[in-house]
Amino acid sequence: MVNLKAPHYPVISYRPIQPSDLEVLENIHGELFPIRYESEFFRNAVNGRDIVCWGAVDRSRPHAQSNELIGFVTARVVPAKESEVEDFISFDSSKPDQTLVYILTLGVVESHRNLGIASALIHKVIKYASSIPTCSAVYLHVISYNNAAVHLYQKMSFQCVRWLHNFYLINEQHYDSYLFIYYVNGGRSPCTALELVTLLVTYVKSLINLMVAKLWKNEDKKISKWPTSKESSYLLPVVQNKRSITAEVARCEYL
Ligand SMILES: CC(C)(COP(=O)(O)OP(=O)(O)OC[C@H]1O[C@@H](n2cnc3c(N)ncnc32)[C@H](O)[C@@H]1OP(=O)(O)O)[C@@H](O)C(=O)NCCC(=O)NCCS
Repeated sequence: MVNLKAPHYPVISYRPIQPSDLEVLENIHGELFPIRYESEFFRNAVNGRDIVCWGAVDRSRPHAQSNELIGFVTARVVPAKESEVEDFISFDSSKPDQTLVYILTLGVVESHRNLGIASALIHKVIKYASSIPTCSAVYLHVISYNNAAVHLYQKMSFQCVRWLHNFYLINEQHYDSYLFIYYVNGGRSPCTALELVTLLVTYVKSLINLMVAKLWKNEDKKISKWPTSKESSYLLPVVQNKRSITAEVARCEYL
């Protein structure tokens, strides 16, 4: 006798998207996204023209549906120099043709959420990007109110590098967006938080050394131990630098 109360464990498998997925892919996009995509986008996706994509299917569904998409990710390889994350990529002059992988769309049907399917699809993209020697990072935009997606990218160690005010225009209303990045193949941001902290520590050390040296000098000369206006101006550039570094650290902590 079949136990109707027994939990159902889907058997998920992942495969490249193929031309026969066209209709389902288009339908799921229509259901999940407030933005309408051109038919050409779907045709290119299923035919692998300029777009790479992977699908998830639930093999435990009835036979007719066992190969039907329940999740997908679509992405594109773009030249790093033409991308909007150029500032966040440390350029290597020996590799002038650096590329990035941009995630265009990602979705999982509601009945199959929170099973790790989107995470597995993103892993496919990261693995693909890592297999391209010129590729330094995977990046994407996410609308700022999409908590599930923001949580997912943070969980997967994507770094939020930018907040874009009014990036999306949907039904005549503007929405902000976050820009997330995940470095691969040793790609990195031109300013890492560690580098900035090291720089800050070096500046603070040299500032202390400078002050100690001045105090000793002043002791010797038997003059006031507090800095004169000349000394203050000495400190000013250091303090200014520290402030700008602190701002940079704050920015990079968020990365
Ligand atoms: C975002 C989306 C792709 C996630 O798919 P998924 O297969 O459920 O993702 P996973 O199971 O791999 O991970 C989901 C994570 O998000 C968390 N999550 C789900 N809903 C959440 C919410 N409203 N707020 C915060 N976190 C949430 C889950 O708890 C889980 O994290 P955990 O593993 O730490 O518990 C899916 O919700 C979706 O298709 N949404 C509609 C389309 C979309 O927004 N696409 C992304 C565009 S950038």
